[in-house]
Amino acid sequence: MKILVVGGGGREHAICYGLHKSSRVTKLYCAPGNAGIAEYAECVEIGVMDFEKQVAFAKEKAIDLVVVAPDDPLAAGLVDEFEKAGIKAFGPRKNAAILEGSKAFSKDLMKKYGIPTAAYETFDDPEKALEYLETAKMPIVLKADGLALGKGVLICNDLESAKAGVKEIMLDKKFGTAGSRMVVEEFMTGREVSVLSFVDGKNIRIMTSAQDHKRAGDGDTGLNTGGMGTFSPSPFYTEEVDRICREKIYQPTVDAMRAEGREFKGIIFFGLMITEDGPKVLEYNARFGDPEAQVVIPRMKNDLLDVMEACVDGTLGDVELEFEDNAAVCVVLASEGYPVKYEKGYEIKGLENFKDKDDYFCFHAGTKFADGKIVTNGGRVLGVTAKGADLKEARAKAYKATEWIDFDNKYMRHDIGKAIDEA
Ligand code: AMP
Ligand code: GLY
Repeated sequence: MKILVVGGGGREHAICYGLHKSSRVTKLYCAPGNAGIAEYAECVEIGVMDFEKQVAFAKEKAIDLVVVAPDDPLAAGLVDEFEKAGIKAFGPRKNAAILEGSKAFSKDLMKKYGIPTAAYETFDDPEKALEYLETAKMPIVLKADGLALGKGVLICNDLESAKAGVKEIMLDKKFGTAGSRMVVEEFMTGREVSVLSFVDGKNIRIMTSAQDHKRAGDGDTGLNTGGMGTFSPSPFYTEEVDRICREKIYQPTVDAMRAEGREFKGIIFFGLMITEDGPKVLEYNARFGDPEAQVVIPRMKNDLLDVMEACVDGTLGDVELEFEDNAAVCVVLASEGYPVKYEKGYEIKGLENFKDKDDYFCFHAGTKFADGKIVTNGGRVLGVTAKGADLKEARAKAYKATEWIDFDNKYMRHDIGKAIDEA
């Protein structure tokens, strides 16, 4: 089969790694891809939001299945466009991708169908939001309704900062039109865990758990980022937590979407908080996490193409997911200054150290070719990943491997997976 993957970051590198192992894949394209993805796929210079060119390319090459990986094109309906052109596509249609695309939608859905989540109110009018905050319990969480690169969430410790937050989101439009509407939410405490799943509209299959590290600095300090590192599985995701989530969250979400006439096919990513009152949904994403994919896909035993096709065809009921009985850790190597301001274009050295090592992966996030060399081309540059018999071994190996790589302004967190020691 001829496959096109839409996207060009570390997540897409992990997806292309998974797909290239499938014996049924005869040709793999990635648009736009990056310098690492080029090892597995032919990269094509088409942006993820250039729908016309994406569809024209898929037609021209007679692509059998397209995998749309990032949130923006999913929310804007790229899967619908491929389908209109008669091309099979993996991922939710626009009317289902709203599960991630609008926080107000997802909160209302959870309320309507009794899926556990933090208490909340939605506001279109900043005056009303300010009035509400006067009597609200602090700390409190403010969320811009729309997509904001995972950054549209403010946790405010007191009334003053909450008021400033309303101004930032709704009046100054710091996150653009995503902030025309805002969700104000109860602050929850507990362990966070990411659980990814495959969904075929009706059936859901749960992958192994993972945990992200969203803040830029050691000790969870600094600004929110796309994710600075992950580990899988999470020792805090116990059998008991899994049982409750299966009963109250996973299948109920799929059923709720169907009942709303928004059948969901693709990946649902459950961002969960394990609170004293049990697991609750922090957020839904309609795609693989980045860098969650980098620790989950390398541990997956199934043929990734088989599972993705089953989602599109509605035959996921026949699939059992299997994961290796080990662990993986991913440490993101970023450019100093990320997520605010950073320089690009520095040569990356040491990539050859990952060749022919089964337990080690160097997933490229922001890289490109320049004058025959591979150079930095983004805030997040590489996701250095290692598998080990357990989390501690995987972490030690991943950090060892970060030393194999060198580029100017290389920055990373040193405490990815520190929580493992507390488990
Ligand atoms: P989100 O994009 O909704 O996942 O929010 C980003 C991050 O903000 C989450 O990963 C949490 O760490 C934090 N967060 C979001 N909502 C809440 C909440 N209700 N209580 C506590 N922390 C939250
Ligand atoms: N790593 C979190 C996300 O992909 O949104």
